[in-house]
Amino acid sequence: MAETALLELDRVQAWYGASHVLHGISLRVNEGEVVALVGRNGAGKTTTLRTVMGLMPKAEGRVRFAGQDLLPLPAHRRFHLGLAYVPEERRIVPGLSVRENLRLGLVAAKAGIDERAAIAEIAETFPRLRERLDQEGVTLSGGEQQMLAIARALIAQPRMVLLDEPSEGIMPVLVEEMGVLFRRLRDQGKTLLLVEQNVEWALRLADRAVIIDQGEVVHESSAAALLADKDIQDRYCAV
Ligand SMILES: Nc1ncnc2c1ncn2[C@@H]1O[C@H](COP(=O)(O)OP(=O)(O)OP(=O)(O)O)[C@@H](O)[C@H]1O
Ligand SMILES: [Mg+2]
Repeated sequence: MAETALLELDRVQAWYGASHVLHGISLRVNEGEVVALVGRNGAGKTTTLRTVMGLMPKAEGRVRFAGQDLLPLPAHRRFHLGLAYVPEERRIVPGLSVRENLRLGLVAAKAGIDERAAIAEIAETFPRLRERLDQEGVTLSGGEQQMLAIARALIAQPRMVLLDEPSEGIMPVLVEEMGVLFRRLRDQGKTLLLVEQNVEWALRLADRAVIIDQGEVVHESSAAALLADKDIQDRYCAV
């Protein structure tokens, strides 16, 4: 099968004020792939996702998504191109029900998505949310809130989703469910970039793996190859 890059980073650098955090990240995520982005605390994983989404104060290099140069575009334009982001802090809005939180995912989306149908479809995919559509979002369990954050990102039918540590702090049964969901999304043709500390779980889900360390890519291989290589995992992924 021909591999088409959907997201491509070329020598990307990023800064927080005077602090130079990414030192030239190059990586690609092909259409329909799940790529695990791993590395120890402070390696630059979140910063890489934030750079793609347009949330860094300063970034250089080149980021292409679906043939478009992203760095010159403001964050909302990137969202319109079909890129969704589930940040580590889930940002469920207090005072709003699950349904209203889901609706927020549609507010800025392209016109033409039927709200009722979209919520019904999401409820089908997330049975735990279906049972709780009218409950206040912030009263869900941590794992359910994470599912809601993912559902809210999916409701606008993005081509690609960037996820920052979705399994963090979630009980094993929900992590299992999430794994099943990600496989299903992949089978439906979605492209995922998955940042994880739960390295083995992520590698079992992913097609390819990229490790970053101190703001640089230090390893790239199939997920299966990294899963089998304990030495490299210990060297770069130990928390
Ligand atoms: N707002 C900020 N201001 C200044 N420096 C920051 C800021 N956020 C992150 N950094 C620094 O940038 C570097 C990369 O951080 P980043 O959050 O991308 O790491 P990470 O790989 O996601 O780590 P973790 O696994 O702990 O989430 C770290 O040295 C961090 O201290
Ligand atoms: Mg992080």
